[in-house]
Amino acid sequence: MAATLSADEIFHEFKEHSIAEFFRKNSQMLGYSGKVRSLTTIVHEYVTNSLDAVEEAGVLPDIRVDIKEIGESRYTVCVSDNGPGIPSKHVGKVFATVLAGTKFHRYVQQRGQQGIGAAGCTLFSRITTGKPVHVKSATSKERYECDIDIDIKSNKPLVKNMATILAGGVAGTTVCGEFAEVKYENSDHGVYEYIKRTALSNPHASITLVEPTGKEVVFLRSVTELPKRPKAIKPHPLGIDVNDFVEFAHRSQSRKLSAFLVEAFSRMTSGKIAELKDVSHDIDLDADPTKITWSDAERVVKAFKQIKWMAPELDSLSTIGEKQIEIAIKNILAPKFMSVVERKPKVFRGGIPFVVEAGIAYGGESGKKVDENAKDGSVVEAEGNVLRFANKVPLLFDASNCAITEAVKGIQWKRYGIANFEEEPVSIFVNVSSVYVPYSGPGKQAVAKEDDIIEEIRLAVMDCGRILQRYLSGVRSLQLQESRYKTIMRYVEQLSKDLGEITGVDSKTLEASLKSTIEKKYNKLFADPEKEDASIAEEESETEEAEG
Ligand SMILES: Nc1ncnc2c1ncn2[C@@H]1O[C@H](COP(=O)(O)OP(=O)(O)OP(=O)(O)O)[C@@H](O)[C@H]1O
Ligand SMILES: [Mg+2]
Repeated sequence: MAATLSADEIFHEFKEHSIAEFFRKNSQMLGYSGKVRSLTTIVHEYVTNSLDAVEEAGVLPDIRVDIKEIGESRYTVCVSDNGPGIPSKHVGKVFATVLAGTKFHRYVQQRGQQGIGAAGCTLFSRITTGKPVHVKSATSKERYECDIDIDIKSNKPLVKNMATILAGGVAGTTVCGEFAEVKYENSDHGVYEYIKRTALSNPHASITLVEPTGKEVVFLRSVTELPKRPKAIKPHPLGIDVNDFVEFAHRSQSRKLSAFLVEAFSRMTSGKIAELKDVSHDIDLDADPTKITWSDAERVVKAFKQIKWMAPELDSLSTIGEKQIEIAIKNILAPKFMSVVERKPKVFRGGIPFVVEAGIAYGGESGKKVDENAKDGSVVEAEGNVLRFANKVPLLFDASNCAITEAVKGIQWKRYGIANFEEEPVSIFVNVSSVYVPYSGPGKQAVAKEDDIIEEIRLAVMDCGRILQRYLSGVRSLQLQESRYKTIMRYVEQLSKDLGEITGVDSKTLEASLKSTIEKKYNKLFADPEKEDASIAEEESETEEAEG
């Protein structure tokens, strides 16, 4: 019989580990899996931080990403911005404490949400090369540089070689790291594609990418207006879960639960507090919010759901904007046709506002990518392309787990004139914006499949699809008329001769008259093909609406 172990013997090995240790072991959860993806993840984390910081400072972003190959699967990555800089007393935590930042406790729409990204990169640098990251930063008060490492066991920063930069050369923040187990590749999931899509969804940003070959690719800004600054809002009582409620309450400065509720939630008035009391007599509104238990919180959240509330505030959302999307799509995909739609804000989970923007580009560079390395310019991918974005950040991975993919693939494209979505030169653009985007994992590469979000994306893409369908049927009808015109013209000469013989009228006169009649009819159509087609398009869209 095998020897048995007592609980004491088993628990002899009982240990705790830090969140940094957890992500060291599960770095794939942060997007560090596969060499190409890992490099894109690093660039993504640094670039999103830069864009957030620069925009928060109210400046047009100038971002530079510089990647150098220094060995087998080994690269340096430097990202610079023209943002407000980072105060030196916080810089250690920014780059080397997982779950630290200025964003996760605020209810404001930004790209970053969790306080993991920057420290995740330092962690990846440490575990693949053993090296710290190097940071240079300038605020209005100081200019400095330093090396930052992460103590994985304690999730604490180790800041070394802190030095003041006396003059010139530094503006905003530059972070440089050395990483192994990564690879630069010009593929669908590579850094180039990521930056290109970032430029597409951030037309107010100017982004320079220096590729490992030394080639400098510049995506100049196509608009000079900053996007609307997102407004910080308070969470809506219907959009909160018990876990978040407990967290907010424990951080509260208020002495009483009632004061905390008014301070922390939108649409919460003294009248609503009284209603809560009526709904649940077990809630102690005088209790200390910092000591609230899970079951108390559960009672409050349950009571929230039994009361009628005003809808959440919707002006917390910052979109890219229809005009800006059009300009960006034109610059980057040069399509023959496009339609762009911004829907009205909606809510999911009863209380979290979000808004969907969608666009369809057809023709030009849409839906296909040309392999720049192949001399014959062969197409490496010629499928209908879904360009997914959340809070203006491109999502390149985990497509099958994403609400956007689900919504787009569920559309019956034949109704919109696309016989085979995978093969036509069509790109679908979708951006979901929210104060709280529900990602399907900490790597933030897919929007969770919330029913309300999927439905809203579907409606937005279908709005664009209807406009595309009108265009495509116009084009196809024009092609049909052209071929009919050519066929008829081919027979005019013979027909005039035959008619001349029968009637005795001069065949040349007959030919001229017939040609002029035919040309008159078709010239009118070619000049205004949509008129000819309007009835067909209307008929088809009516069927679509009736069915859909
Ligand atoms: N380039 C930068 N300029 C100014 N502040 C920065 C910069 N990069 C990071 N920060 C600050 O560091 C914090 C931590 O960044 P980090 O990427 O770890 O988390 P986050 O962006 O808040 O959330 P997420 O994990 O979702 O990216 C940010 O909240 C921000 O305050
Ligand atoms: Mg971040």
